[in-house]
Amino acid sequence: MNNKIYIANWKMNITSKEANSFFEKFLSLYQSSHNKEIIFCPSFTTLFSSKKNKLLNNSENIYLGAQNVNNKKSGAHTGEISVSMVKEIGIDYCIVGHSERRSIYNESNQIVNEKLKLLIENKIKPILCIGETLEQRESNDSDKVVLNQLSCCLDGVSPSEIIIAYEPVWAIGSGKNANIDDISNMNKVIKNHMNKLGYIDGQFYILYGGSVNIDNLSTINKASFLDGFLIGGASLRPENFWNIIKI
Ligand code: PGA
Repeated sequence: MNNKIYIANWKMNITSKEANSFFEKFLSLYQSSHNKEIIFCPSFTTLFSSKKNKLLNNSENIYLGAQNVNNKKSGAHTGEISVSMVKEIGIDYCIVGHSERRSIYNESNQIVNEKLKLLIENKIKPILCIGETLEQRESNDSDKVVLNQLSCCLDGVSPSEIIIAYEPVWAIGSGKNANIDDISNMNKVIKNHMNKLGYIDGQFYILYGGSVNIDNLSTINKASFLDGFLIGGASLRPENFWNIIKI
């Protein structure tokens, strides 16, 4: 993969009105670059208005993604959003299995697997988040946990384009990022496993997420097999996010 991917995961931040101001500022900073792809993942309500924004309409390398979808096609699931609903907006990507969904909303690998299958059926590219907790890392179980997440989430899924975001749970929003050797080692483990599952290189991309910011990006960028970044906090301001992309 020659292109670096930068994903902004806005989580439960940024209303439609705030997104308009964000995109206006971002557009004034943005210089198109053929080897960089940017994916904005706003909330569901902001997704809808973002689709009409000129930054997203006129820029070749900028895409929209949802942060989540339900694992069922339709039905009695009050408050939930289906794949066909986000597809109708015209998004290209969707995050699944984020650790906040796994820990706060008890999402299992089985549920993530169901979501993945529905997304692929609907031609939306999944951004699959995997990563170990601090406890699992301290008991040397990181590889085992990540491989199990990959195997279960991709069970019965025939290989097609997918983004894997390795996000150690303890690094998310904590200000502590994983070190370059740990990221390189994990990326290698992920790459080998994806190849074993039948994914060829170029069909899957490996991103790192967890407290990425302007100060640590250049160092993390040197990790092996790294195709980009999933960024939360540091993507909430247009200047910060652009400065990261620009490096
Ligand atoms: P963070 O979030 O950059 O704020 O750590 C990353 C994520 O949760 O995807």
